[in-house]
Amino acid sequence: MKRLDTPVIIIFGITGDLSKRKLLPALHELFRYGILKQGTKIIGISRHQLSQDDVLQIINSSLANKVQDDHAVDLSSAVTALQLNPDNLSDFQRLKSLLESCDSLGACQRLYYMSIPPAAYAPIIKNLSQAGLNTENDRLLLEKPFGYNLESAKSSIDLVSKAFRETQVYRIDHYLAKETAQNLLAFRLHNPIFVPLWNNQHIERVHIRQFESIGIEGRANFYEQTGALRDMIQSHLMQLLALTMMTVPDSMTSSAIHRAKIDFLSSLAVADPKLSIRGQYDGYRQEVNQPNSNVETYVKLQLSSQSKDWQGVQFILEHGKAMHQSIADVNISFKTSHEKRRNSLTFQVQPDETIRLDLLIKEPGLTNNMRHADLKLSYSDVFPNSNKVDAYARVIMDAINGDQSLFASNQEVINNWQILEPLLEAWSDNSHGLIIYPYGSATVQ
Ligand code: BG6
Repeated sequence: MKRLDTPVIIIFGITGDLSKRKLLPALHELFRYGILKQGTKIIGISRHQLSQDDVLQIINSSLANKVQDDHAVDLSSAVTALQLNPDNLSDFQRLKSLLESCDSLGACQRLYYMSIPPAAYAPIIKNLSQAGLNTENDRLLLEKPFGYNLESAKSSIDLVSKAFRETQVYRIDHYLAKETAQNLLAFRLHNPIFVPLWNNQHIERVHIRQFESIGIEGRANFYEQTGALRDMIQSHLMQLLALTMMTVPDSMTSSAIHRAKIDFLSSLAVADPKLSIRGQYDGYRQEVNQPNSNVETYVKLQLSSQSKDWQGVQFILEHGKAMHQSIADVNISFKTSHEKRRNSLTFQVQPDETIRLDLLIKEPGLTNNMRHADLKLSYSDVFPNSNKVDAYARVIMDAINGDQSLFASNQEVINNWQILEPLLEAWSDNSHGLIIYPYGSATVQ
């Protein structure tokens, strides 16, 4: 898909939490890097009437910790508010007239950003299509969760595909846009010494972990319907796993990357509930005001692949809220016949992007004692002056550029649900034990 030269960004849900926390700061960053130019149009849609002062306030509060510079002014002057009822076709006609003003600049290229819960997509997509706002120049950005289970994911894909072709749809998984996540692939492609090691003869276990020291931070409604498995594992952690294990494609085109990911995901056996643990942090039930809630805030599960290259390797995915630290990393343990001689390679996604190779070295002096020590490559040391680009800024830029590499395809979404479905089933009748763990735990057992 070609680059959108004069994109108009239409944000459904400008007043929402996601828009304030991630989207507006990312747009500000894109103005700062010159990816978005003065004169760019952004239409901020809300069910309620917003004055230009309200818009300004939303932007100021979303940039509170960032520099209030000229680019904040560019962003504020780009945004026009529009009140719209998603069920009302005539409101979409009004949106169309507003958009027509940009046609004088050339073909109007629209980027619809659905910064709203997926349950609210249906009338918007239907009315965009009815109003003729789904031409081939238009792109649709969708936020996870991509469905609630396999069946709802399929219906949501059906719904979207009635109005937009898959090449126009960008399903955001912001973990794929994180710097170290991107490096997972680049590292393997450009460091041939690791290529012969990337199989079950050499790798014993891959452990992907994402811990947050915070809890659900007031998102009771969302979380009660979602839980840790749907919120983090189905999307972010499964995607990191696919990126780590897939065969590196010969060409780094979006379609080749998606094909390689799907090949790996299709080789995975469905999850076994007996090899999974789910937990809930102590205090969660009071926080969501549901004394009997069995929604999990922690999940650990083990997957295996049936492919010739990966048979026998353990793939462990682990995510928890209210843990002792905030960290996300991918740890690859290499096989050894000697328990004390074990090497591992770790990609730390956050905080402090780092790649570490754990090696054994002899202690100095007259002893022959060996010690584990890391060969460590920290991004901030190697690139001290580099500008960190936020994952959301990267995601929007790629959508403008028409590069779908860092987005989840329909088939990936379906594969991930298929793999995790047995856990959803086992947990739905609450028969599978839920462990209550103390806030700030290092692990859950
Ligand atoms: C979101 C989840 O997708 O990712 C949140 O809905 C989670 O529950 C967040 O906190 C984590 O993202 P990050 O970039 O802060 O690690």
